[in-house]
Amino acid sequence: MSTQPTHAIPSYLDQKDPGPWGIYLQQVDRVAPYLGRLGKWLETLKRPKRILVVDIPVELDNGTITHFEGYRVQHNISRGPGKGGVRFHQDVTLSEVMALSAWMSVKNAAVNLPFGGAKGGVRIDPRNYSMPELERITRRYTSEIGVIIGPHKDIPAPDVNTNAQTMAWMMDTYSMNEGATATGVVTGKPVSLGGSLGRVEATGRGVFVVGSEAANDLGIPLKGARVSVQGFGNVGGTAARLFYEQGAKVIAVQDHTGCVHNSNGLNVLALLNHVEQTGGVAGAADSDTLTPAEFWALETEILIPAALEGQITKHNANSIKTRILVEGANGPTTPEADDILNSKGTHIVPDVVANAGGVTVSYFEWVQDFSSFYWTEAEINHRLEAMMRTAYTAISAVAKEHKVTMRTAAFIVACSRILEAREVRGLYP
Ligand SMILES: NC(=O)c1ccc[n+]([C@@H]2O[C@H](COP(=O)([O-])OP(=O)(O)OC[C@H]3O[C@@H](n4cnc5c(N)ncnc54)[C@H](O)[C@@H]3O)[C@@H](O)[C@H]2O)c1
Repeated sequence: MSTQPTHAIPSYLDQKDPGPWGIYLQQVDRVAPYLGRLGKWLETLKRPKRILVVDIPVELDNGTITHFEGYRVQHNISRGPGKGGVRFHQDVTLSEVMALSAWMSVKNAAVNLPFGGAKGGVRIDPRNYSMPELERITRRYTSEIGVIIGPHKDIPAPDVNTNAQTMAWMMDTYSMNEGATATGVVTGKPVSLGGSLGRVEATGRGVFVVGSEAANDLGIPLKGARVSVQGFGNVGGTAARLFYEQGAKVIAVQDHTGCVHNSNGLNVLALLNHVEQTGGVAGAADSDTLTPAEFWALETEILIPAALEGQITKHNANSIKTRILVEGANGPTTPEADDILNSKGTHIVPDVVANAGGVTVSYFEWVQDFSSFYWTEAEINHRLEAMMRTAYTAISAVAKEHKVTMRTAAFIVACSRILEAREVRGLYP
C-alpha cells in the first residue's frame, strides 16, 4: 500500500512553466467531472505512455558533423497503435511533442479511429539544410526511433515541414532495417508507394462535412449561406470549393497575401486558379479588398479559420458575427476568445473533430497497405464522409446531453473511449 502523492507535472518538465503540456492538463481536468466511474483512470491521460529522446548525428555536405535532438512520444495506446505526425521545427520542445501526442489521442478517439496518440519532432530549421542533408537526418531519426515505431506499434505521418518525400524516406529506412518492405509504417506517403487517393483533399473535405452537419443542426440551408475562409491552401481551399459547389456564397478569403471579398460570392474555382498562377489571393478578379479587422467582422453563417493557430483572440472575437465556426486549423481560437464566442452563442466545431479528415484517410491508407488492395477515390470520400458525420452526431448528442460546448463534448467522448479501453484491458500485470 502506498500513500505517495501523485504529481501531474512530471519531474522532467519545468514545474512552474510546463508549456503546452500544462495547457493539455487543464483541458483534461475540465473533463474530469463528466467521466463518471471512468474518472478512476484519469491519471492515465496525464502521463504519456512512453517518451523516446534521441540524438541524431549527421555529416553535413561540408564534411562537418552536427547533432540534432529528436523525440517520439506515445501518449496512449490503449485503443490501438500510436498515430501522429513528425514535425521538423527549430522550436520543437519535449513539452510540445507531449501535448501534440495527447491531442492526437483525443482526435483519434473523438472520430473513433482504432489508434492511440503519438507525435514526433526534430529540433531543426529545415530551410537551412540541403535535400541530401534532410534525407540523412530523416533516415537517422527514423532508425533511432525504429525501436518503438512499426505498422502495429506506432505509425508516423507528415506534420509541419515534413511531407510525402519525408514519409518515403522513413518508410524505406524502416523497411531496410526490418529486411522487408513495410508500407504501413507511415502514412501520407506518395501514391506510388502505397499512399491513399483522396488524402490531399481529406482535411478540407472533412471540414465541409462537419460544417454542413452544423448548418443542418441550426436549420441553415447551405444554398446561399455566407462563408468566409482564412487560409486558402490545402484545407481552406478544398473546404471553400466544396461549399461553393453546394451553392454556398464564399464571400471572403484571406491568405498571407491579403483578403479578397465579394458580397455576392467569389468564384472559388477562378480564385483557386488565380492562386495557382500568382501564389496568393491578392489581385483576384471581381473582388474588393478588406483589412484583417474588416474580414473578421463580416456577417456570415459559416467562418472557417484554416491557416494558423491563435488567429481568433480576445482582440477580434467580439467583432466576429458568425453562426458557425469550423476550426480547420489546429488551435485557431485562444481560450479567452472561445469563452467570448460561446457567450455569444456561436456554434463552434472544434479542431479535434473539424480537421480530423486527414488522419481518417491516413487510417484508410494504413488499412489499404495491410491488404495491399487499394480503394477508389470515390470509395475513400464516401467512407470519410460517413465517419465524419458519425463523429459529429455522437459529439453533438453529448454536447446537448450535458449542455456543454462541442469542444468539451469532444473531449468527454474521446477521454471516455480511451479510459473505457483502459478499464476493460485492465492493468498489466
Ligand atoms: N493539411 C492537413 O491535412 C491538415 C490536417 C489537420 C490540420 N491542419 C491544419 O490546417 C491549417 C492549414 O493547413 P494546410 O495544410 O491547408 O496548409 P497550407 O500551407 O496548404 O495553407 C496555409 C494557408 O494559410 C495561409 N496563411 C499563412 N499565413 C497566413 C496569415 N498570416 N494570415 C492569413 N493566412 C495565412 C496561406 O497563405 C495558405 O493559404 C494548419 O493549421 C494545419 O496544421 C492541416
